[in-house]
Amino acid sequence: MSEAGPKPLRRAYGRRLGRKLSARRRELLAETLPRLCLPSGAIAPAALFPEAADLWLEIGYGGGEHLAWQAERHPEIGFIGCELFQGGVASLVRHVDERGLANIRHAQDGHDVLERLPEAALGRCFLLFPDPWPKYRHWKRRFVRRESLDALARALRPGGEFRFASDDAELAAWTLMHLLAHPAFDWPARGVADWDRRPEDWPETRYERKAIAQGRHPIYLRFLRQG
Ligand SMILES: C[S@@+](CC[C@H](N)C(=O)[O-])C[C@H]1O[C@@H](n2cnc3c(N)ncnc32)[C@H](O)[C@@H]1O
Repeated sequence: MSEAGPKPLRRAYGRRLGRKLSARRRELLAETLPRLCLPSGAIAPAALFPEAADLWLEIGYGGGEHLAWQAERHPEIGFIGCELFQGGVASLVRHVDERGLANIRHAQDGHDVLERLPEAALGRCFLLFPDPWPKYRHWKRRFVRRESLDALARALRPGGEFRFASDDAELAAWTLMHLLAHPAFDWPARGVADWDRRPEDWPETRYERKAIAQGRHPIYLRFLRQG
């Protein structure tokens, strides 16, 4: 380890800024985001959510609809959501404000959060429709890679679940290949129904809706952290 501390897992890739936000969105961001932001440094789940029965993480929450849905249905769980894109963060802030959600914290980079979590802190992690980075020279930008899975395996408790979805068959195959090759994860699927349709407790995301409308068929994968 260098004097500057451990090397970060890897860089986060992706668009951070989009169209200019409306005045109302900017106001909401300024008012609400500061209290949602995860403090810097090591994450202490018990201090973050003193009453929570568990901690769940969503990486790349996009507009936040899945995260807000889960947080509303599971008030006993504390949630950390990660998103780089400012428009997505503004959308999550609106969900939190409109629904009065008290069990969500936001951070930007999912790699960074995985590294800052204590071992076995998470009961569940969601990575839904991550950027596929289809060009070969960009494959190194994909979230699912051995080093990210090592960090996830450390942060998930035995029996914890990793949920992944994609409308990109090549990325789904890549993910399956990486998870099957990783000693810490099991894929308990027994038949087509286990990956071909979205489970009940898993709402549709904005990206997923668009993919289906364009005729693509998503794949849903659930992996368990071995005990
Ligand atoms: C294709 S979008 C899908 C968004 C959402 N999950 C959905 O299904 O609608 C992928 C999202 O992941 C975010 N993202 C990419 N890398 C990330 C990282 N390292 N940490 C957090 N978010 C990330 C991007 O900003 C983008 O919003």
